[in-house]
Amino acid sequence: MKANYPPLYYSDYLKLDKLLSCQNPKSEEYEGKLAHDEVLFIIVHQAYELWFKQILHELDSVRDIFASDYINENNMGVALGRLSRITEIQKVLIDQLNILETMTPMDFLEFRDFLVPASGFQSYQFRLVENKLGLRPDQRKLFDKSAYYSRLTPAHQALVIASEEEPSLYDLVEKWLERTPFLKLKGFDFWENYKAAVQTAFQHDREIIEQNPTLAEGQKEMELAELSKSTEGFLAVFDEEKHNTLREEGHRRLSYAATQAALLINLFRDEPILHIPFKLLTTLVEIDELFTAWRHRHAQMVQRMIGTKIGTGGSSGHHYLRVTAESHKVFTDLTNLSTYLLPRSQLPPLPEEFRKNLGFYYTYRNDEDKS
Ligand code: HEM
Repeated sequence: MKANYPPLYYSDYLKLDKLLSCQNPKSEEYEGKLAHDEVLFIIVHQAYELWFKQILHELDSVRDIFASDYINENNMGVALGRLSRITEIQKVLIDQLNILETMTPMDFLEFRDFLVPASGFQSYQFRLVENKLGLRPDQRKLFDKSAYYSRLTPAHQALVIASEEEPSLYDLVEKWLERTPFLKLKGFDFWENYKAAVQTAFQHDREIIEQNPTLAEGQKEMELAELSKSTEGFLAVFDEEKHNTLREEGHRRLSYAATQAALLINLFRDEPILHIPFKLLTTLVEIDELFTAWRHRHAQMVQRMIGTKIGTGGSSGHHYLRVTAESHKVFTDLTNLSTYLLPRSQLPPLPEEFRKNLGFYYTYRNDEDKS
């Protein structure tokens, strides 16, 4: 680094003159009278957009890391750190709504009409975040027949459409899972052993129901039928064809190989080499969960602010937002992996040779030296 750089002034570095002159309330411009809370409304939205920018910065760098065919361990740590940063930002995004809610619905009415047809629905950065995470266009719930980007400027539409074409974080993580070497266990059929353990566990559950003296015959039948249904869903993880049918029908998204790899990572999370992959998968689930929490929280705030009125962007408002909260999720299959987990005591033991490969080399060298 060069030693002599010109002295920097705080305000110039942050371009504060520019940044702080970007709050121009419409109430003042149109009516010559400032609606006091409009300043808060603008600043809260601007703060969101700045955080969206930061999330995109992190997302792009993590996608770059996962785009390579081989990811070294250092980069996995970096990717995990950046994804965890996203979750911390998301928590702030949820909390920020509390500040906005200090504005009462009547105060909002002082300037709401000036905003039409602008709405957070037109946040192109929010759409970029959704697409870069991996929300599929055909998964979107629309509130009218036009595309979700139809209300954006042509320049913003171009950005959003281009992001649909790029490999999303979801796509890249799926490919990475498919490449994991852990699935090939020499001389040990993990999946057959695991299947047997699962069948024993379900048999055990069946016996508990059958032998439960407090259940009437009808109740027993109902519970056994439920158990058969969940056993069948569970066993699909051992049947590639069935899995692929579920994918075609839209009930699953993750490929068969990626599902098996993710499951193995979850089951053997205690093995040192799987710590970071496990943390990574958990963080993706958390990102999904936090966006869903934000969506629900935003929908709740919207109901409080405008009741059942339509939004300034023209949607059914609160109702539309509730629907997107439930359906605009990306990593659902990773969340649902818990369906397939067994208690550690019921897992088939891994052959020692394989376990050694999952450990830290230094630890085992030490153990060998001792023996
Ligand atoms: C008084 C406060 C707010 C109200 C009443 C409100 C209302 C709405 C409504 C009704 C919609 C549905 C589209 C429409 O018809 O306009 C919407 C969408 C949206 N709003 Fe807000 N909003 C508020 C604050 C915020 C804030 C602070 C953000 C932060 C950026 C935000 C971001 C969004 C986003 C991203 C969408 C699109 C959601 C989707 O399509 O799934 N909103 N908002």
